[in-house]
Amino acid sequence: MAILVTGGAGYIGSHTTVELLNEGREVVIIDNFANSKPEVLDKIKEITKKDFKFYQIDYLDKEKLEKVFEENKIEAVMNFAGYKAVGESVKKPLEYYENNISGAIVLLQTMQKYNVKKFIFSSSATVYGEPETIPITENCKTGGTTNPYGTSKLFIEQILQDLYKSDSTWDIAILRYFNPVGAHKSGLIGEEPQGIPNNLMPYIVRVAAGQLEQLSVFGNDYDTHDGTGVRDYIHVVDLAKGHIKALEKLEKEEKGIFVYNLGTGVGYSVLDMVKAFEEATGEKVKYKIDCRRPGDIAICYSNPKKAKQELGWEAQKTLKDMCQDSWRYIQKIKK
Ligand code: UD1
Repeated sequence: MAILVTGGAGYIGSHTTVELLNEGREVVIIDNFANSKPEVLDKIKEITKKDFKFYQIDYLDKEKLEKVFEENKIEAVMNFAGYKAVGESVKKPLEYYENNISGAIVLLQTMQKYNVKKFIFSSSATVYGEPETIPITENCKTGGTTNPYGTSKLFIEQILQDLYKSDSTWDIAILRYFNPVGAHKSGLIGEEPQGIPNNLMPYIVRVAAGQLEQLSVFGNDYDTHDGTGVRDYIHVVDLAKGHIKALEKLEKEEKGIFVYNLGTGVGYSVLDMVKAFEEATGEKVKYKIDCRRPGDIAICYSNPKKAKQELGWEAQKTLKDMCQDSWRYIQKIKK
């Protein structure tokens, strides 16, 4: 029985595929390379010395997707396909809603048709909007998302809840990621945003590499220890391992729909991140204080206890690992 990974050539999908293959799992990847490159698939093979089946298709293409289910014995689906650029989602809401929501619906309908009912969904801490309490638990209120990307995650979560209500033979894990950073320690796979990055860590590494002039720190007047925004940065390999644990949970007898925060439970500010990066790599990160970025919140970090108790998962990697691994990756791709 295989695990179908949609968006398996992407940032989190590729790291999760590595962990699945390392666990001896059979993997089938689909990807349309909308925001990834075919080379990533070779790198996954290089890291794991293992093979997998691959289809270059769009998950909105029902006919082709059905063929994948016809040709393989799929046990569970991990859905990493989807658009994820917050700013772009504000400019192109229809593209985002179509790709993320319609894509998920086509996928779920196809799963239903082939009686595959284990689904792991990549959600985001963004569904908490302006968090009710910090640290954020899974019971905190969701809603109040500030962009179509975030709203698409929220809607898909609701669709999954409704689906489970209608048919309790589904087994669903909703994983709410905090801020994924870092790369595989081999330096062979990592995050490669197209154009100028929006997220903090990819921006920091590009400033250190001399590709961008300086970092703009978006606001130093938040109610935090140094005035800059606080987030829960989590190493992508830890995050990938969380998916394996979630899969194991779905494979146990009890059916259900489960929601987990995947974070470290520790918050770092923008300036903490700059300092940690400089210490971990010995590289200088030039920055200036700029105005706040619209839609940003002051503090966001998780309470990750539920995942520890129910999945036996907790983040292992340090902030130093996150910085060094991000740095190693960009140096490799520069060559
Ligand atoms: C953003 C998205 C979130 C998405 C996540 C993916 C928003 C509102 N949220 O989270 O939906 O799931 O990315 O990782 O966009 N910062 C700077 N300068 C920069 C870039 C960022 O100071 O050039 C600051 C931000 O103000 C924030 C922190 O760094 O305080 C982290 O920002 P970022 O990496 O963009 O992540 P989030 O905004 O937390």
